[in-house]
Amino acid sequence: MSRSPYPRVATLRTAAAFRAHLERSGIPLAFDDELAPPAESPLARPIEVGRVRVGNRFCILPMEGWDGTRDGEPSDLTRRRWRHFGISGAKLMWGGEAVAVRHDGRANPHQLMMSDRTQRPIAKLREELVAAHRDRFGSNADADLWVGLQLTHSGRYARPDVHDRPAPIAACANPALDRRFPGGVRVFTDAELDRLVDDFVAAARLARDAGFSFVDVKACHGYLGHELLGARTRGGPYGGSLENRTRFMRRVIDAIRANVGGLEIVVRMSVFDTVPFKRRDNDHVGEPEQITTVNSQLSGFGVISDDDQLDAALDEARGVLRMLDALGVKWICVSGGSPYYNPHVQRPAMFPPLDGYEPPEDPLRGVWRQIRATAILKRDFPQLVFVGSAYSYLQEWLPRVAQHNVREGLCDLVGLGRIVLAYPDLPADVLSGASLKRAAFCRTFSDCTTGPRLGLVSGCYPLDPFYTARPEAITIRDVRTDSRTAAARE
Ligand SMILES: Cc1cc2nc3c(=O)[nH]c(=O)nc-3n(C[C@H](O)[C@H](O)[C@H](O)COP(=O)(O)O)c2cc1C
Ligand code: SF4
Repeated sequence: MSRSPYPRVATLRTAAAFRAHLERSGIPLAFDDELAPPAESPLARPIEVGRVRVGNRFCILPMEGWDGTRDGEPSDLTRRRWRHFGISGAKLMWGGEAVAVRHDGRANPHQLMMSDRTQRPIAKLREELVAAHRDRFGSNADADLWVGLQLTHSGRYARPDVHDRPAPIAACANPALDRRFPGGVRVFTDAELDRLVDDFVAAARLARDAGFSFVDVKACHGYLGHELLGARTRGGPYGGSLENRTRFMRRVIDAIRANVGGLEIVVRMSVFDTVPFKRRDNDHVGEPEQITTVNSQLSGFGVISDDDQLDAALDEARGVLRMLDALGVKWICVSGGSPYYNPHVQRPAMFPPLDGYEPPEDPLRGVWRQIRATAILKRDFPQLVFVGSAYSYLQEWLPRVAQHNVREGLCDLVGLGRIVLAYPDLPADVLSGASLKRAAFCRTFSDCTTGPRLGLVSGCYPLDPFYTARPEAITIRDVRTDSRTAAARE
C-alpha cells in the first residue's frame, strides 16, 4: 500500500468531509453538493459549434492500450476498449488513442499506426465504437456523437521496434531529459520536419476516408508536437521564438486544411509544465530534478515551479491559442506535463506506476491545477471549446466537480481518462440518474501505466475482471509487491 500522507478519496465520504479536507489542504476545488436530475443536468446539455453538434458534456480522452499488432493494426483488445468508449454515454471521442503517422514515430512496437495497410482495420474500429453506441442508446444515437483520431509522432519517446529500446528523435537538446537516454538523443533536422508535415497530411487523409470527423494534431505529454512548442534552444525555422516554435503545428494544420477537405482539426495541448521530477532515494517521493537556472530557462513550454506562476506561464499557451483561433481550430483539449517526467502533474494518482514516485503533493492539487488552467484559458478564449482533463482521481466526487465546472463555464466538456477503463459507463449512469457503482471507480493504482512500462498490454488489471483474469495481471502484481518490499527495506 502507498505510504502517502494524503487521505484516500474513498474515505472522504460526505460533502462536508470532502470540503473540509480541501479547505484544510488549501486546495480551492469547488463542487456541487448534489447532482442535478438528468433533465436539468448541465452535463446533459448538447454543445454546437458551426455544423458540429456534440450531444452532452462528457468526452472520452485518448488512451492507448499498447495492444496493436506489429503492423499498427488494432487487436481484439483495442476493439474491446473502443467498444467500451462507445457504450460510455459520452458524445465526444477525442481521438480514441494516439496513432502514429509513421513507424519511427511509434511510442511502442504495439502502437497503432495509420497507413494504407492499416486504414481499413482502423476504420472498422470506429465503426465498432459507433455500433456499440447505437446498440446501447438507440439507432439514431450517433447523430450527435463526434469521433476523431489522434495523430502523433512520439519524438523523444519513440520506441518503435523494442519496448525497452528508446529510439528518440527529439525536437531539441534538453540536458535534463537527454541524460535519461544513455544511448544518446538525435534531433530532428529542419528538412525532416518539413517531410513529416506530409506524413501528417497523408495520415489525416486516410483518417477522413476511414470515416473520422476530425483529427487531433497532438501537442501534449512530451511527444514531438509538444516538445517543439518549447524548443527554445533550437536554431532555424522551428525553434527559438514562439512564432518559430509553432511553425510545425501551423504548417501541419495549413497543409491538412489545403489537402484534406471535410475534416475538422482539433488540438490537445499540455498548456503548462514543470521541470522533470525524479524519485528521492530515501523515501521514493517525487522531487524536482536539480537543473541549472540557465537550462530551466531554455527549454520547456509554460514551465512553472509554483502554482502562483500558473496564470503567467499560460501566456505561452495563449500565444498558441491565438494562432489556432486564427487558423479556425475551435476545439482544444487541455492537459499538462508528461507521463514520463512529471506523471503526478499529468495523471494525478495515489499509487505510482513502476517507474514513478510517491506523490509529492496531494493528487487533488494536481486535479485542481489542470481545472484551474482550463478555467483561465476558457475565460480568456470564450469563443473556443475547452475539454478538461485529469478528473479520474476525483473518484466518487468526479460527477459533482464535473457538474460544477460545466455549470460555471470553467470548461465546456469534461474529459475522462482512466475512470472509463475501470468504469466504462460512468457517463451513462450520471446522465440517467442511476446510482453510481462504487466498486467500479478507478482508485488510481496505476497498473494501466505500469503494464506498458513492462512491455505488457494496458488495461485496468485491478478492477476490470477481463484484465484481472489475464496472465499479465500476475506479473504486474508481483512487480508491484517486489517494488514495495524493496522500498520498505530502504
Ligand atoms: C493507459 C493510458 C493511456 C493513455 N494514452 C494516451 C494517448 O494515447 N493520448 C493522449 O493524449 N493521452 C493519453 N493518456 C492520458 C489521458 O488521456 C489523460 O490525460 C490522463 O489519464 C489524465 O486523465 P484521467 O485523470 O481522467 O485519467 C493515457 C493515459 C493512460 C492512463
Ligand atoms: S489500473 Fe484501473 S484503477 Fe488503476 S489507475 Fe488504471 S484504470 Fe485506475
